[in-house]
Amino acid sequence: MTVLLTGGAGYIGSHTAVELLLNGCDIVVADDYSNSSPVALQRVKAITGRDFPVYAADVTDPAAVRRIFAEQTIDCVIHFAGKKAVGESVEVPLAYYRTNLDAVLTVLECMRESGVSRFIFSSSATVYGSQNPIPYREEMPRGQCSSPYGSTKAVIEQMLEDLCRADSGFSAVLLRYFNPIGAHPSGLIGEDPLGIPNNLMPFIAQVAVGRRERLTVFGGDYPTPDGTCRRDFIHVMDLAAGHRLAAQYAMEHTGAAAINLGTGRPYSVREVIAAFEQASGRAVPFVVGPRRPGDLPEFWADAGKAERLLGWRARYGLPEMCRDTWRWQQQNPQGYPRE
Ligand code: WQD
Repeated sequence: MTVLLTGGAGYIGSHTAVELLLNGCDIVVADDYSNSSPVALQRVKAITGRDFPVYAADVTDPAAVRRIFAEQTIDCVIHFAGKKAVGESVEVPLAYYRTNLDAVLTVLECMRESGVSRFIFSSSATVYGSQNPIPYREEMPRGQCSSPYGSTKAVIEQMLEDLCRADSGFSAVLLRYFNPIGAHPSGLIGEDPLGIPNNLMPFIAQVAVGRRERLTVFGGDYPTPDGTCRRDFIHVMDLAAGHRLAAQYAMEHTGAAAINLGTGRPYSVREVIAAFEQASGRAVPFVVGPRRPGDLPEFWADAGKAERLLGWRARYGLPEMCRDTWRWQQQNPQGYPRE
């Protein structure tokens, strides 16, 4: 099986690339490096000892995507490419709709021109909105998303369901990620956010390594056991395995299937800080500040469907997530070398 990874140099894409290459799949990567580094792909090659074609391409460009399908034989597409900063999406919503919708539409149209009909989409638990009871189950209705970023995910899920209804030969797996953290155990690839991290784990790691003075915990008065929010953190290597199994599933089934990728077990912000201090042996100074608008007190996955459909289950716990994040951060205190 040859899998095209759009956004394959990014955080989740690069880990999925390793997982596919080490399990007998071939890959082709397309990435415009707008929020990623080509060094990540060199490191994927170093970890796996395997080479693969790479296109420095913006997948909103139909000519660039057409060329990939003309030159390569692709069985399945895993579509990671897109803008992903929740806060930024509130500031510039049109840029989010333009980029995320153009990218997926271009890729899907080029797939149809080339007769490729297996598609895996990077969706998010944010599509459950704020009204559904926890744990989230896939048959619950999509909710009102708190950000344009989330709305692009919900709209694209709807588009893929419509496409599968219209084309009985098409297969789409909508992978709803919970909170991916961690890194490849080699410490060679990991999450490398541009500028000030928006997400909890990269911020904690940058504090521990000395790049930032202290963490601000957004809210200590939530109705949770310790007053801080709780999330379903999932190791990026588990997430990567979920993508490989989803691609296999898409080869054997048609129709649209939404699948949660989470552990089913929440941890609070305070628990994550404590686990990171334990794993790194470093202090993570923090202050408790006001709540961040749009944050939900807590949510986690019902992970049963992933197990039933894919035979997938998360293998790593919070200590491994912290250990591997720390190894990556320590070995790459400034992230990937800038070229
Ligand atoms: C986790 C918890 C914060 C930073 C978002 C998107 C989701 C997905 C992943 C991806 C919350 C708290 C955070 C900080 C803090 N998007 N926090 N101080 O918001 O659950 O999910 O990222 O592409 O779609 O919604 O993740 O890591 O931002 O926050 O206290 O400096 O950590 O308030 O409770 P979130 P997160």
